[in-house]
Amino acid sequence: MNINFDFVPKHYASRTHEKMKDVLMDPDGIGPAIHYYMIRGGVDQKNITVWEPGTVSGEYIKTYGHYHIGKLDENYNILFGEGIALLQKLSVDKNGKMIADHIEEFQAIITKLGDEIYMGPGYGHLLVNTGKTYFITLDNSPVDFEERDPASFPGHADYEPVKKMRGFAYYVIEHNGKPALKRNHNYKKILKEDLGGLEVVG
Ligand SMILES: [Fe+2]
Repeated sequence: MNINFDFVPKHYASRTHEKMKDVLMDPDGIGPAIHYYMIRGGVDQKNITVWEPGTVSGEYIKTYGHYHIGKLDENYNILFGEGIALLQKLSVDKNGKMIADHIEEFQAIITKLGDEIYMGPGYGHLLVNTGKTYFITLDNSPVDFEERDPASFPGHADYEPVKKMRGFAYYVIEHNGKPALKRNHNYKKILKEDLGGLEVVG
């Protein structure tokens, strides 16, 4: 077996609370020092993400969320735990540029163990840990290990539109002991939505 060990130190990254403040419902809320851990192998070896359980001011621990640059899609396999996937597609103007506060389509998907969740090209995505244990996924997004910070911020991912709007169109919150959605009012319009049967509160 011919394995190149040179990239091994670049496989691991963690997302800190400090960084997650960009996109939290309550940036001043108290959370874990690290929200999630990433071990990135790329298309062939796959990528593993592990979420801490818990909430920050009622919002469940989630990934930062990103859009893909170019026509890239991605599959997530649910390996362990309970979670919800959020997908959203922004509207585009007549020049094809994404409109930051205008959602063409939003989708919330309650995941089950063994599910494969497809993130189509153009759909921003994040996942939320709604259980009491780790939530663990496997995905097949590409990683270019020649990049400066391939594990933490791979070049195919665009985090800026999410940062600008302070998260996705809805936050997943704990309400009466179970997951519900709370609207992020930085987004002015949602044309089409499928909330997966989740209640909207607030
Ligand atoms: Fe992705």
